[in-house]
Amino acid sequence: IRDDKRQTSLWVAEYIVRRINDFRPSKDRPFVLGLPTGSSPEQVYANLVDFYKKGKVSFKHVVTFNMDEYVGIPTSHPQSYHSFMFKHLFQHVDIPPSQIHIPSLENYKDYDNMIAKYGGIELFLCGVGSDGHIAFNEPGSSLSSKTRIKTLTKETVIANARFFDGDVNAVPKSAVTVGVKTVADAREVVLIADGRGKAEAVKQAVEGSISHTWTVTALQMHPRFIMVVDDAATEEL
Ligand code: GLP
Repeated sequence: IRDDKRQTSLWVAEYIVRRINDFRPSKDRPFVLGLPTGSSPEQVYANLVDFYKKGKVSFKHVVTFNMDEYVGIPTSHPQSYHSFMFKHLFQHVDIPPSQIHIPSLENYKDYDNMIAKYGGIELFLCGVGSDGHIAFNEPGSSLSSKTRIKTLTKETVIANARFFDGDVNAVPKSAVTVGVKTVADAREVVLIADGRGKAEAVKQAVEGSISHTWTVTALQMHPRFIMVVDDAATEEL
């Protein structure tokens, strides 16, 4: 628990840098990093870019798998998760484009196999929806799910309208998303959450029963799961 988002973001970025730098990559075994979008990781990415510019980390031996992407808008759309990732991280660091993976209608059936071919995900960074969803694993998603297409709940569409000039009709109604199991299969999961709006999800993640109603609760079973939250997000604990 840290005071505010600035501090949680810094903690997470420093942690990721440490994990990448402590890892001994080889040609067959790069550092495989799972990544989210959303407002939660924005400052983490800004810090990672800053650390890269200061020479404290390189992404040359990092392979990334993003957790989700909207269906129905082109990758070039400013609000696609593809655009988000290039804008906030990829275009600023030395990751080779061939090492970047973002789920799509074309690759989603093979996505979990692609991850497996790299030896699995070393660290999956996640945000959480206010209804406790991870990636786009909306309430009711199977806790053993893999990458697939999901219809977004009304709440998620409304929550994400802020990125589409507040226009609910402009928000895509479905997405390709990694499954709960895809996230839980990572060797380590780091979840970042801030603000009062996430307090109920944080409470469920820590104190709730494991249930597909709050998919984040599946991570309680994970042997290496770190939640990094600000004060406001702990208000229901
Ligand atoms: C979306 C994303 C999730 C993200 C959640 C919370 O639904 N698919 O991966 O965790 O929003 O977003 P934010 O970080 O903007 O609160």
